[in-house]
Amino acid sequence: MAVAGCTAIMCATALLAFTGPWADGGPPTGSGDLPVLARANGVDLGVAVAVDPLLGDGGYRDVVGGHYTSVTAENTMKWDHVQPERGVFDWSGPDAMVDFAEAHGMNARGHTLLWHNQQPEWLSRGEWTSAELRGVLREHMEALMGRYQGRIGAWDVINEPFEDGEPFLRENLWHQVLGEDYIAEALRMAHEVDPGARLYINEFNIEGGGAKTDALYALAADLLDRGVPLHGIGFQGHFVHGQVPGNLAETMNRFTDLGLEVTVTELDVRIAEPVSEQAVRDQREEFRHVVAACLEVPDCRGVTVWGVSDAHSWIPEWFPGYDAATPFDEDYSPKPALWGMVDALSREPSGRSAGRTPRGRRRERTPAP
Ligand code: XIL
Repeated sequence: MAVAGCTAIMCATALLAFTGPWADGGPPTGSGDLPVLARANGVDLGVAVAVDPLLGDGGYRDVVGGHYTSVTAENTMKWDHVQPERGVFDWSGPDAMVDFAEAHGMNARGHTLLWHNQQPEWLSRGEWTSAELRGVLREHMEALMGRYQGRIGAWDVINEPFEDGEPFLRENLWHQVLGEDYIAEALRMAHEVDPGARLYINEFNIEGGGAKTDALYALAADLLDRGVPLHGIGFQGHFVHGQVPGNLAETMNRFTDLGLEVTVTELDVRIAEPVSEQAVRDQREEFRHVVAACLEVPDCRGVTVWGVSDAHSWIPEWFPGYDAATPFDEDYSPKPALWGMVDALSREPSGRSAGRTPRGRRRERTPAP
């Protein structure tokens, strides 16, 4: 059911006219529906991809190319994959992903440059002086960001800088060796390497507000006050079914009021096992809510789902006892969650324009609530 070229309202009508096997309307069946809707709303709808199935699994490729407008590397751009030995770079995965994106007219997000996980041992176990570690970071950025300059528009430069669930900066390698201003330093360095890229801090457990959100807000405000090139905040969005924060748009607005853009970068909604049909049906509203929240926030650039299908999700391995966190089941059949995203993209009132360019302006700051 290709509806290329339709307006959001026409697309919505076309999609709603389709009633598949589900009582409350069916999933979109053709490729091209969601990308058209996303673009009509001026947002990206993205997905995190793994390289092997992207190269070798036709069903996987069809889902990615047919339902999304952007891709993020789930693992292949992390240090342990891209620079497994010092100065030895493996471009096979990153190249495959970026080539796929371009061949399908999609955008690509860069993930990630500084993180405490998935660092190769030569890096994490090295005895570094601050000058040496700075040199290593610059080499890495020049190689990775430099290779995709002009092809990757936004980078998660800093990933998960706060302690899990805590409002304190994490004592990661970068913090330990470079000091707590490593974040400003890394952002400035990234900006020198690729002045055109949108530079993000990406964090989890910040979506509903609270002490960690406040601490990130204070950090972002301070960086902007000092003229540090920070452009966006990534709200990871790893949610538990039944606990998706109702105030997501409000939380994102706090950051866009600073003049930043925001993106939901890693959306999934994990369901406790045994996974009931009712829970899978109810997940539709949760995916709708997250996409609708992004559409409510003028400087929200889009929503990326973390994992192409339930067979490729990180959830069962990392959160034993949970599953079914993505919009496609293990056979690549769309789940109600996918239809929830269609709901949001179909019902968005006018006011957003497609193809918006980042404005980068600063609004007057509102005090933290
Ligand atoms: C996860 C991947 O999905 C897994 O395959 C990998 O084993 C661990 O990392 N926050 C992030 C992502 O920023 O990079 C993580 O991705 C999930 C949590």
